Amino acid sequence: MSAKQDSGMVWGLGLGPGDPDLVTIKAASILKRAAVIAYPAPEEGDSFARMIAAPHLPGGQKEIAIRMNLGDGAFPKEDVYDRAAAAIMAESAAGHEVAVLCEGDPFFYGSFQYLYGRLAGRCPVRIVPGVSSLMACADAAGMPLTARNDVLSVIPAPLPEAEIARRLEDCEAAAIMKLGRHLGKVRRVLQAAGLIDRTRYVERATLGSEKVMALSEMHGESAPYFSMLLVHKRAEAWSNRSMGGKTSQGGAS
Ligand SMILES: C[S@@+](CC[C@H](N)C(=O)[O-])C[C@H]1O[C@@H](n2cnc3c(N)ncnc32)[C@H](O)[C@@H]1O
Repeated sequence: MSAKQDSGMVWGLGLGPGDPDLVTIKAASILKRAAVIAYPAPEEGDSFARMIAAPHLPGGQKEIAIRMNLGDGAFPKEDVYDRAAAAIMAESAAGHEVAVLCEGDPFFYGSFQYLYGRLAGRCPVRIVPGVSSLMACADAAGMPLTARNDVLSVIPAPLPEAEIARRLEDCEAAAIMKLGRHLGKVRRVLQAAGLIDRTRYVERATLGSEKVMALSEMHGESAPYFSMLLVHKRAEAWSNRSMGGKTSQGGAS
């Protein structure tokens, strides 16, 4: 696409799971030239998405930090997104290219969707797909997600216990995301289903602080937000052997 066609374009820019080397070539080139970047950020402190983008930014771009309480479980923050969408549309109307920084892929549980709903049809907006944490966690765990005709379910941990159990029954493999304070509940469901020994825990995949372990070695009722569980009913997607896979702490490279 030419620079003229990109005038005023708003990009939902997928940046991958954390390692800046997993930013795509297309996302990196948009980061180099965008006049404006916007990103979700906690009320105080650094934005994870901006940290991923940092090595690719030339400096001097205008920045719109979309600050909100990320930890209270309430979403979407209507007033925050209304204000951010208005600021982004004003930049777009002025002919500026805007890169909205998104961890992972913007259309896979990404908060960018709340902005997309406000922007689409009112200004030019496109997505740049990113490497999702789902794929990064499978690599970290050394555990292919699916094979043959397996059905893979992606299950948000905040769902009620009975709903998680029902969803697990209906698939061969599952990724359980957004663990946080729901880890204890999810462990109970997996225990009842006889799947504890077929589940791996991955935290902060691709970052220097990455951790990977069998769920049976993971204690406590809660986990950091950037973590997920990977389950396969055959233990290994490609065979009937018992679970292998990698175990590491702080070993991302
Ligand atoms: C709101 S979703 C965003 C997903 C993101 N758009 C993607 O494509 O990966 C946040 C959840 O993604 C998972 N996640 C994101 N990054 C991760 C990482 N580096 N390691 C482990 N899990 C991660 C966690 O389960 C977290 O609770």
